[in-house]
Amino acid sequence: MIIAIDGPAGSGKSTVSKKLAERLGFKYLDSGAMYRAFTWKVINAGVDFNDKEGLCRLLNKTNIKIEYSKDGSKIFVDDINVTNEIRHPSITGNVHHVSNLEFVRKKMVELQRGFAKGENIIAEGRDMGTVVFSDADKKIYLDADIKERATRRYSEIKTFNDKSNLNNVIEDLRQRDHRDSTREFAPLKQVADAFYLDTTNLKIEQVVDILIKEIEKNSKTGKL
Ligand code: DC
Repeated sequence: MIIAIDGPAGSGKSTVSKKLAERLGFKYLDSGAMYRAFTWKVINAGVDFNDKEGLCRLLNKTNIKIEYSKDGSKIFVDDINVTNEIRHPSITGNVHHVSNLEFVRKKMVELQRGFAKGENIIAEGRDMGTVVFSDADKKIYLDADIKERATRRYSEIKTFNDKSNLNNVIEDLRQRDHRDSTREFAPLKQVADAFYLDTTNLKIEQVVDILIKEIEKNSKTGKL
């Protein structure tokens, strides 16, 4: 069974997806981590983000692997564990350079489908329901007010950057929303067959409870 969860940054996708996976005993796929991992590699290899041929050559010799465990997934680039480093603001600020490239998306989509093959999975990202798992058993679109999303992000990034402030985070999210939803390939969009949930005034556990009920409605037996 595949549950596809999409939505903008800060909508609660990652936290909710991890909890859902835990509660349902499913595997969890953080597709954004893959785009972040390649961004890490580009920066480390010193390749210019405008050099498409260089990026393509680099991608062809890059091995990205996700190891799932209940205590948290780990992501490796050529066997280097980059799980923590890919959360750094320098990655967040540059990932759009690679996530809009068709050849990058093609490789990531293959990896994502390979990871999900034959598994029960919660797949989270921007194009899970629209492209990667367009035949998912359940599609979910999580959203939240931009101020609330920024507040959530701010508390996460304070550990990396104590000079950031809430207004900068709001501005940054506006830019990311715009880039994610207007890019040429696999833009973020809410599809008609997705269950839409605004998480602005909900606690994580409330969101998870609502989604489990919703997913159960779709299963033939009403139980998972
Ligand atoms: O969810 P996140 O912030 O870790 O995602 C990192 C970046 O990757 C974000 O700029 C959007 C992009 N992304 C994407 O293009 N497609 C996905 N399926 C997941 C993330």
